[in-house]
Amino acid sequence: MQYICTRCGKLTDAAVRQPRCECGGLFELDFTPPAWDPALIDRSEWSLFRYRRFMAVDGDVWRSVTMGEGMTPVIPFDEKGDVLFKMDYTMPTLSFKDRGAATLVSHMKAIGVDYCVQDSSGNAGNSVAAYCARAGIRCEIYVPEGTSPKKITMIEAHGAKAHVIPGTRDHCADVCRAQVREKGAYYANHVYNPYFYEGMKAYIYETFEQLGRIPANIVIPVGNGTLFIGAVKALEHLQASGAIDHFPNIIALQSELCDPLYQARLAGGTKPAEVSPKPTLAEGIAIGVPMRGEEILGMMARHNIKVVTAPEDRILEARAAIARRGIYCEHTTAANYAAYLHYCELYGPTPDTLITMCGAGIKSDH
Ligand SMILES: Cc1ncc(COP(=O)(O)O)c(C=O)c1O
Ligand SMILES: [Zn+2]
Repeated sequence: MQYICTRCGKLTDAAVRQPRCECGGLFELDFTPPAWDPALIDRSEWSLFRYRRFMAVDGDVWRSVTMGEGMTPVIPFDEKGDVLFKMDYTMPTLSFKDRGAATLVSHMKAIGVDYCVQDSSGNAGNSVAAYCARAGIRCEIYVPEGTSPKKITMIEAHGAKAHVIPGTRDHCADVCRAQVREKGAYYANHVYNPYFYEGMKAYIYETFEQLGRIPANIVIPVGNGTLFIGAVKALEHLQASGAIDHFPNIIALQSELCDPLYQARLAGGTKPAEVSPKPTLAEGIAIGVPMRGEEILGMMARHNIKVVTAPEDRILEARAAIARRGIYCEHTTAANYAAYLHYCELYGPTPDTLITMCGAGIKSDH
């Protein structure tokens, strides 16, 4: 397998330890999946690896790493059935990041990585710590101050070292990247490493197999955009294969207190706008400088994707409304529903909408 640089186009062996190309560009996998064909799904495997024929996966190493991630239920929010929730917090570490961590850590194990670092607002760090524990890889996770203590406890429980860094989420990423440069640690990062996106693609493959169709609208939170990029790649794959005849309406959302991509779309820009992130309940999407921002904006332009913001003062209300339907999600996840309601106010009723319940409520009780 090879990486291709998104800036200069140079090819590099995907077993490389450096997190990006010599020119500074981020890597993408030089991989084109075969056309979607249900016959290529491994129905004997109950994890996202049942779709591995459509993903860049190295051999069979994943078998010792998987914890049955993916394959989350899709349920109606209420009797109306207009809104469908994909219950992603039912995954092993209680968040949707397990899809990406499973494929990334499988790759790391396949190429013999024994030590890695990662920065995260909490959920991706939880996932990478858990999967590294399973794969026997030493790991250190950098989280920004203010991260839910429950997430930090989980990280440490898996034997990883948690570094709590004062300042913003973006500063925390800078501190971690300095460790990559200085210590030569493998950067097990969900934004840089393209193997993470391979797992995130399964969000769409699962939905398509479960429902036999793709809902008309799909609400996706965008901080660094790992689910967004994975979902768009998978939908483009399904469309190019002729499995779906049109692209669904993707509703991307950001926090109204940290909205570089929302602002860029408003201005018709191709680069994330410069913003000063303010503290938000939606800590998981508080990314002021999304590293793949240009790639995300390119996808948004290609598919005419709208971005809405989650009103800060409606997040707790949304969380309570969801909890009263039996579903206990974290604050950042409640922002998905708050943003959807805001979208309906702006554009009218929007039935047949899929929303990810991407993080468990118990993680953000602090
Ligand atoms: C619960 C939750 N929702 C949404 C996101 C945003 O994901 P991304 O930064 O990949 O767009 C995160 C990221 O950690 C998260 O934890
Ligand atoms: Zn390059």
